[in-house]
Parts: sequence; C-alpha cells; structure tokens
Amino acid sequence: MSTTEQLLERRYRVLGRGSPLFYDKPLHLVRGEGVWLYDADGRRYLDAYNNVPHVGHCHPHVVEAIARQAATLNTHTRYLHEGIVRYAERLVGTFDRELSMAFLACTGSEANEIALRMATVCTGHRGIICTRFAYHGNTTAVAQISTVFPPPEGFGPHIRAVPAPDSYRDPRGTDGVLLPDAWLKSIEEACESLRASSQGVAAMLVDTIFSSEGLPELPPEFLAKAAAIVRRAGGIYIADEVQPGFGRTGTSMWGYQHYGVVPDVVTLGKPMANGHPVSGVVARAELATEFASKVMYFNTFGGNPVSCAAANAVLDVLDKERLQENARVVGEYALEGLRRLQARHDLIGDVRGRGLFFGAELVKDRRSREPATAETKRVVNAMRDRAVLVSRIGVHDNVLKIRPPMPFSKENADLLLATLDEALGEV
Ligand SMILES: Cc1ncc(COP(=O)(O)O)c(C=O)c1O
Repeated sequence: MSTTEQLLERRYRVLGRGSPLFYDKPLHLVRGEGVWLYDADGRRYLDAYNNVPHVGHCHPHVVEAIARQAATLNTHTRYLHEGIVRYAERLVGTFDRELSMAFLACTGSEANEIALRMATVCTGHRGIICTRFAYHGNTTAVAQISTVFPPPEGFGPHIRAVPAPDSYRDPRGTDGVLLPDAWLKSIEEACESLRASSQGVAAMLVDTIFSSEGLPELPPEFLAKAAAIVRRAGGIYIADEVQPGFGRTGTSMWGYQHYGVVPDVVTLGKPMANGHPVSGVVARAELATEFASKVMYFNTFGGNPVSCAAANAVLDVLDKERLQENARVVGEYALEGLRRLQARHDLIGDVRGRGLFFGAELVKDRRSREPATAETKRVVNAMRDRAVLVSRIGVHDNVLKIRPPMPFSKENADLLLATLDEALGEV
C-alpha cells in the first residue's frame, strides 16, 4: 500500500496533473458511511458536499440491492426485465402527468446529449440557448453549453449563452445583471438572433437550480416566462435536474416544480442510483415517441438490471426515510444558522439556497459586493483541514457550495456551522 504522498505521485504520472483533485491537500478516502467519509489515516470527515451518495454513503439497502441483482442477472434493456420496467414506471410516476416516458443512460452528459438530440430531431431547428457559467457535461455537443469551461474548439453558430441570472448583484438589471425582466429580454434576443441566422430555436436548456452559476434566488414565474418565449419561437424547454432532483430542494421532488411550468424534457443523473452510474431522460410522450421513431436509441450499459435495482432502492429509501422532508427541515435550519453567521462575519454578503442545497456568497465589502474569491478558497481549505467537506461555485467562484447527502441531520448542520464559524474567523 502506498502512502498518500506516494499515491499522489503515482496518480500524477499515470492520470496527469490536469486531472482535477479537490483541496490544496488532496484527500485520500478509503471508506464512507451515511454522511461520513474516512481517510487512509482513519480520520473522519463530515460530508457536506456530495450529492451522488444521495441517500448516504454505502446505504445498506442500495448495496444489498446491487449485490443481489449482480448475483442473479445483468444484461441490458434489449431484453424484457421486470426491474427495468418497474423503475421506469416508478420514475415517471414522480413527475407531472405530461412527463410520462423515459430513456435510460449512464451519465448526466449522455442524458443531456439525448435531450439536445431530441430537441434538434423533433423541432427541425438547431439553435440552443443556455446560460453563461453553466455546466451540463463533457461530450462534444454538451461541452458547447457547458460555458463555465469554454471549449477550446470554440462555440458553434447554434449556441446562444445568455448571462447567468444573479439575485445578489443589482436586481434592477443594470451592470450586466439580469433579473428578471432583463434576463427574459436576453432570452428574447437570443431567439431572434437564432431565427435571423437560420439556425432556428431548438431548445433552452438550464439547470433548474443554476448551481454552477452560483445558486441565485429566482422569482417563481422566472422560468415559466422564459419557457413561453422559447416555445413561441418553436423550441422546447429542457430542465437539467442532475443537481436539484430527487427531492434535494425539500419542497418538491424536482427543481423545475418551483417555477410553475412543466418542461418538455427533463434530464437526470448523479443521485439517481447513489453512485452507481445510471442517468435518464424523461419526456412528454409525443416528443419521446417521435424521437424513438426517428433515432434508434440503445445504450449498452444504461438502465441495465443492476442499475435499475440500485435506482429502485434509492426510491425505496427516499420514501421510507422521508428524506425530502428531512431536506426541507434541515435545510431551513441550516439557512437560519448561516444567517446568524452572516450577522457575525462581514465576509458573508448573502445567504441563499433551497433544502439541502445552500450557500453563502463571500464578499470583501458588503457595499461594493466585491467578490472575496481568494478568501472563499481559503475557507473551503480551512474547512477541509477541520474535517468538514464543502466546495465553491459561482461566476466569481466565491459562493460556498453546501450540498450534503440527504440524511444530513440538524446535529450535522450544527457541526458544519461551528466549523464554518471557525474557518471564517481564520481567513
Ligand atoms: C447540472 C449538471 N448537468 C450535467 C452534469 C454531467 O453529469 P455527468 O458528470 O454524470 O456526465 C453535471 C455534472 O456535474 C451537472 O452538474
């Protein structure tokens, strides 16, 4: 067995230094349980960051479901299988009635790739509207809308990236900040420009919690109006639920439900099977049917019986342990705690979020709202040194990103807040 330093050197040699690692001092994790992670020295960390282990690291019900199905049969979706059909039925049952058909894949990137293709094939148009500072995945087509990492090959003529909505800096819509009327105007302009360039409008694709963009607090009618503009221009509305989905926001199962408009297509990933690689696309039946009549979609691994056993087990645990309600209650409790910290630390300019996805925007000066980017990085590392894991997001990389596994308790929130209090006092 290598020491952590040796493992790091071996990793650099074989995976390269470009392969990203969290924290100035990378973590060498060996075990997880619930909301806890353990490093190679046996030190325990509170996980306030990872949404993939949605129902908790190594949840026994999910582990057992995977093991049982792996020991019984694993093939793919070209054979009839009870577990696959049952999962698809249960999954679509969690959506609004219109969203009634599903496709299964392995990653969020693939899910978005399918959704983009569905938009192009079904509308006959090519233009895609996304936001600046968004992340939707890593395939060639999806990298075009993952504007947080501008693709070195450049953006195609079919892409229009509108400014990221920002609820903290000047809500009147000046200074490049666009809430809500100015943002909607930018959607209208993007539609017009796509029509004028003969690309046409195929879709608007957004993360319904705008995670990479920094978790802005948006008025409820926001996306309904944007979707109406896009639909009038002949396009569809695609909601990326990879981050807010499966009850994380507390008051609803899906992030789009906060905005009072049902999307045409929804994409799913990360938390769907607690770390087992499965993702999905849920669509209106007419779109799904038209797409399937024109495109032979098959995915060797996507939605196989083991993946569906894991995904079914996640739905069981969400229900049995009432984790959406937990997200609502503990999320509110943690936000209150963050507001108390805001009263004591000038560095915290704004506090926002929903359910178990919340954050604090750090600024050098509350009046000018100058982003405290370097300080945010130091806080994240200071938290890691104190064994609590968080990260950072936002246009200025100055929003603490707190998004723990769903069984996160009030007691866990107290530890998070006490540690944050110390870390803020130190930087
Ligand atoms: C909002 C969003 N969409 C899509 C993806 C891509 O998912 P994956 O990494 O599974 O391809 C991510 C990944 O971080 C994401 O945050």
